[in-house]
Amino acid sequence: MIRNSTGGARDPRTRFRTRFALVVGAVGILATVGAVVLPSTASAASTLGASAAERGGRYFGTAVAASRLGDSAYTTILNREFNQVTPENEMKIDATEPQQGQFSYGNADRIVQHARSRGMQVRGHTLAWHSQQPGWMQNMSGSALRSAMLNHVTQVATHFRGQVAWWDVVNEAFADGSSGARRDSNLQRTGNDWIEAAFRAADAADPNAQLCYNDYNIDNWSDAKTQAVYRMVQDFRSRGVPIDCVGLQSHFTGGSNYPSNYRTTLSSFAALGVDVHITELDIRNAPSDAYRNVTNDCLAVSRCRGITVWGIRDSDSWRSGESPLLFNGSGQKKAAYDAVLTALNNGNPPGGNPTTPPGGNPTTPPPGGGGCTTSVTAGTVWGDRYNTSVTVSGASSWTVVVAVTSPQSISTTWSGSASLSSNNTVLTMRSNGSGNTFGFTTMMNGNSSARPQVRSCTAG
Ligand code: G3I
Repeated sequence: MIRNSTGGARDPRTRFRTRFALVVGAVGILATVGAVVLPSTASAASTLGASAAERGGRYFGTAVAASRLGDSAYTTILNREFNQVTPENEMKIDATEPQQGQFSYGNADRIVQHARSRGMQVRGHTLAWHSQQPGWMQNMSGSALRSAMLNHVTQVATHFRGQVAWWDVVNEAFADGSSGARRDSNLQRTGNDWIEAAFRAADAADPNAQLCYNDYNIDNWSDAKTQAVYRMVQDFRSRGVPIDCVGLQSHFTGGSNYPSNYRTTLSSFAALGVDVHITELDIRNAPSDAYRNVTNDCLAVSRCRGITVWGIRDSDSWRSGESPLLFNGSGQKKAAYDAVLTALNNGNPPGGNPTTPPGGNPTTPPPGGGGCTTSVTAGTVWGDRYNTSVTVSGASSWTVVVAVTSPQSISTTWSGSASLSSNNTVLTMRSNGSGNTFGFTTMMNGNSSARPQVRSCTAG
């Protein structure tokens, strides 16, 4: 986590803000020249990475295998299309510490060097995981394992300090299914606090890297696993555990499908004050509509910083039999590639004016808390403002607190007794006998992508 001089947490998106400022600055210069009229296609980027960069400084990346860096067909696509890479296996524990205390960085360093020399950002994957542990670690337990894990985190994060923009500090620590429990593993058995211990060690070793929790099957907002990870991130944020981001692997392969509430999941995590990343995307048979939906969902959530596909060609995929990627085995662009690039090129960068309602983007906290729950519905969107309605369940007398993101401000409310904070960003709405649905209008004031967050619902 990046910290300011007083030790407080600084907004982890500072690096993107800088880059975005350059883009805005360039636009400003064009506007000043005035006589320049761009045809609508003039800004259509021709590669995934370039187009993503134009969408608020996002990235479009891929997993990379060191063993393929000698394949010129592979590197031609890599170097042309992508501006972010994640080593597929080369930074994992078995690769970087094959014998306890003996570190091996050759293949990972090759990927990092390849990427950074071409201006691509690197995601480190992964520091602490129950899988792909070297034999010596698999056989450890208790305090010895805890110490070994923390030493591994410290050594590896220190080695790559300044080279890795984001770390998947902990990978796949929650169980599948309906339990919402942690996954059983030798690491989990060292104590429930092993995840936050890993984050603190990574933060100490590389204070400038963005620290992420990464998992699969946390795409559907209704799933118990998604809710469990959400509660952990919420808890970490409330207690100051240094977490900056959540990675949704989004393997829509092996029977897992793109869920229609994916955007709600992204925006709900983002509402906790963390960035979200789509870290290992692949989709069985690469349907264009699902790839397009994922891309549009990321673009609709300003804290969604980018998308990484889990391999370049179908033949490079860990699930090559499902042909889930954007390029076929011959390196040719598939229909899904065109769908993604078009979606990126059509996307609205922050500050733009959406012309279609962002359906599903408003966020609702998980059920429970103050004796009532809320359901948020996106209403009409105009060029400068948009409507939102909130329906309360579980109580007939209630108080709901909703916040919008400055510079947005609430201008009008209805069907409740309202009081607004001095800058009109926080609405406290009380039931007034007119029913359980109230609404309000938000002025965008230059921020067209943020959407309201319900902070609390209190019965009585
Ligand atoms: O490199 C050896 C090779 O020398 C040996 O001959 C061969 C025979 O088994 O194995 C090769 O290693 C394989 C390695 O991939 C490189 O191809 C491993 O067996 C194989 O287990 C490993 O699979 C990787 C898998 O993680 C392991 O869990 C996949 O490549 C990799 O795509 C996959 O990535 C994971 C993410 O890290 C986390 N999320 C899920 C994702 C998919 O499982």
